Formats: sequence, C-alpha cells, structure tokens
Amino acid sequence: MTDLRRTADSGSRSDGDSTERSPAAKLKESETSELVAKVAALEHELRLRDQFISTAAHELRNPLSPAYMQIEHMKEMVSSSAAPISHAWLLGQLAAVTTRFDRFLQTLNRILDASRLGDGHLVLIPEACDLVDVTKSVLAATELQLRAAQTPVELDAPTPVTGWWDRLRLEQIVSNLVSNAARYGAGRPISVAILATADTARLTVRDRGIGIPADDLPRIFQRFERAHNVGHSAGFGIGLWVVAQLCRAMHGTIEVESEPGRGTTFAVALPR
Ligand SMILES: Nc1ncnc2c1ncn2[C@@H]1O[C@H](COP(=O)(O)OP(=O)(O)OP(=O)(O)O)[C@@H](O)[C@H]1O
Ligand SMILES: [Mg+2]
Repeated sequence: MTDLRRTADSGSRSDGDSTERSPAAKLKESETSELVAKVAALEHELRLRDQFISTAAHELRNPLSPAYMQIEHMKEMVSSSAAPISHAWLLGQLAAVTTRFDRFLQTLNRILDASRLGDGHLVLIPEACDLVDVTKSVLAATELQLRAAQTPVELDAPTPVTGWWDRLRLEQIVSNLVSNAARYGAGRPISVAILATADTARLTVRDRGIGIPADDLPRIFQRFERAHNVGHSAGFGIGLWVVAQLCRAMHGTIEVESEPGRGTTFAVALPR
C-alpha cells in the first residue's frame, strides 16, 4: 500500500517542471494521487475497524467474565455447602447474573446496530408518542450512569410534545446524547431542553465538559470516529453515527456546537 505513495512522490520528483509534462503524464499523475488518497482513506477505515473490534471484544467480555465466575461460585456453594442454600441468597445471585447478561445483550445490540444500519436495514415503526415522556424515561434509565459520573441533570420541558415517532428509536437518540453528555461532561451539570412548534420538536442536550476540538467536529457523526481529546474513556464511536442515521430516517436534523474545555450542545429537530 505504501509503495503507491512512494511511486507518487518519486514520480513528481523525476518529472521536473510540470509545464513540460504531456497531457497523458498529467492524467496518470492525477489518477495516481486519487489512488493514493483512496488507499489512505481505506487504511484509516481499517484502523478504525480494528479499534472497534478490540473495543467490542473488551466491552462484551466485561460483563461476561464476572457472570461466569459468579455462576462457578454458585455451583461450588450448591455442591459443597453443608448448610442449605437460602432462597434469598440464590435469588440475589441470579439477579446479579441477569443484570450482567442484560448489559451483555445491550452491548451486543449496539454492535449489531453498527452493521445493520450501515446496510440500510432501518425499519421505523411510528406511533403517537410524547418526546418529554420518552426523555424522562431515558433519564430514569440513565440514572446510574449519571450518578456514577456525579452529574446533575436539569430538564426544561414544560408541556407534552407529542408526535408520530418510533418510540424505541427516539429513546436511542435521547439516550446516546445524554450518555455522551455524562461521559464527556466532566461531572458538570447537563441541561436538557425540549421545545416545539406546530410542526417540529426540538431537543437540545447541553453539557459543560471537555468539548470537541474544531478539527474533529466534521468526523464525529461518522461510524467508529472519535475525537482526539477522549483520553482513555471507553467508546465504540458509533453512538452519534446511529443518532445521525435515525434523524435522517425520521426526516430530521442534528447539529452540534462545541468549544473545547467549555462544553457541547447537540440540537435535534424532528418533524412531528
Ligand atoms: N458531549 C460530548 N462532549 C465531548 N465530546 C463528545 C460529546 N459527544 C460526542 N463526543 C465526541 O464524539 C465522538 C463520537 O461520539 P459517539 O457517541 O459516536 O461515540 P463514543 O461516545 O466514543 O462511543 P459509543 O459508540 O459507545 O457511544 C466521541 O468519541 C467524542 O470524541
Ligand atoms: Mg457515545
């Protein structure tokens, strides 16, 4: 792959003054540099995919290994314990295992979404629903993550905002934006607001965290892409890509404004 690049470099050096090159040579050169750009883009995509596979393997193993160990421990207790095993103990153990398998399945579904949506397999099942209600249920479901990140959330949504949307997909949009705000929000307060006009609902999620460098902004809605300032925080780089696909499928838009070190605001507009 790198050979191509060398060919392009040495080609332009040995040709000397470009005004003396024949049209055929110029055409060849422009074809070569087009190929070099394509190879570089493919190399970049390959690197992102490698990274994704290793993150995916890691994230899937995270809940599985302790669940496996817990089942082994239960087996040991059941087979070796002289005292009878109590129902309460067993139920507690099983609940913990179930929670871990739930996390495993959620992660697996996110990974599957990354390939299914990419193939254009997105079927929306619209129904009458209230964006405020959906947002409240997402905030309740994300409470653990928000609490772990010690992040207070303020919701400004005075009235129901009803529309004809796919509820699960709407939840996915809100949940990705809120969990990003928690992950990258540096523990500072998050403001979620919902507004509506006669034909459009508008959701904004604002945090006061690490922000996104201007150079990275054009890439963050692409699959597997992450900004350079994320440090060691885990992430697939698919959340925003999924959100952008869903917004487009719902004939809506998503916009972002960000300032490194000061925070980020995502604004989604969806026809009702
Ligand atoms: N609120 C935010 N503040 C700062 N950076 C953000 C924010 N939201 C997204 N980003 C940047 O955009 C990138 C892409 O976001 P996206 O949600 O697609 O992926 P992720 O959070 O890395 O992983 P995951 O797919 O698990 O959500 C992030 O890695 C991060 O660099
Ligand atoms: Mg994310």
